[in-house]
Amino acid sequence: MSNLVDNPEEYFRKFLPKREQLLIELEEEAQREDIPIVGPIVGELLYILAKVTRAERVLELGTATGYSTIFLAKSFASFRGKVVTIENDSDMAARAAINFHRTGLNQQIEIVVGDAQEKLSEMDESFDFIFIDIDKENYAAILPHCHRMLKQDGLLVADNVGFKDADPFNRLISESSKWRSVSLFAYLPFHSPERDGLCLAVRL
Ligand SMILES: C[S@@+](CC[C@H](N)C(=O)[O-])C[C@H]1O[C@@H](n2cnc3c(N)ncnc32)[C@H](O)[C@@H]1O
Repeated sequence: MSNLVDNPEEYFRKFLPKREQLLIELEEEAQREDIPIVGPIVGELLYILAKVTRAERVLELGTATGYSTIFLAKSFASFRGKVVTIENDSDMAARAAINFHRTGLNQQIEIVVGDAQEKLSEMDESFDFIFIDIDKENYAAILPHCHRMLKQDGLLVADNVGFKDADPFNRLISESSKWRSVSLFAYLPFHSPERDGLCLAVRL
C-alpha cells in the first residue's frame, strides 16, 4: 500500500501560497485571456530562489503582464535590487508597466521591448539570476548569452522545458561543461500547463 496521500494532484491544489490581490487579479485575467503565466507555485518558487540567492540583478526573458516579474522584484531586500525584463509584444509590455506601477515596484523594474535574442546580443551587463520564459524554440540560441551575462555561480531558471521545442535546450544544457543543471518534471497547480518541466542551472 502506498504512503502517498490520496489524489495528490487534488490534495496539492489546496496548498497555494498566499498572495496579494493584484496577483490574484492577474491570474484571473490570464485564465480569461489565455495568457500563459507561471502561476502561484512557480511564482513563489522564483521569489524563494531569488531571495535565498540574494539576487540583486535579475534578468527575465518573457514578461507578458508582469506576473512573474512581480514575484522576482518582491524578493529584493533593498531598493538596490533590479529586474530587467524583455518582452517582444509592445501591448503586453504596456500592460505590464501599468501593473508595476500598481505594485509600487516600478522603480525596480526596467522593461525592454524587443526580441530577446536581439536585445541580449546588445547587452553587456552582469546578472545574479536569469529567468527564461519566452518561445521555447529560442531557448538554445539564447543560452550562450545567458552564460556570458550570468555571474559565476549565478542561477538560471527555465520554464516550460517539458515542451518539445525545448528539447535542443535540454540537451545542450545537460551536456554542457559550462553549467550544472537539473530538470524537474512536476505537477504545478495553476501553471500553464499544469504538468511541465522546469530547469534549474548554476553557471560554472
Ligand atoms: C509564457 S509568457 C511569459 C509569462 C510571464 N513570465 C509570467 O509568468 O507572468 C511568454 C512571453 O514572452 C514573449 N515572447 C515570446 N518570444 C519572445 C522573444 N523571442 N523575445 C521576447 N519576448 C518573447 C511573449 O510575447 C509572451 O508575452
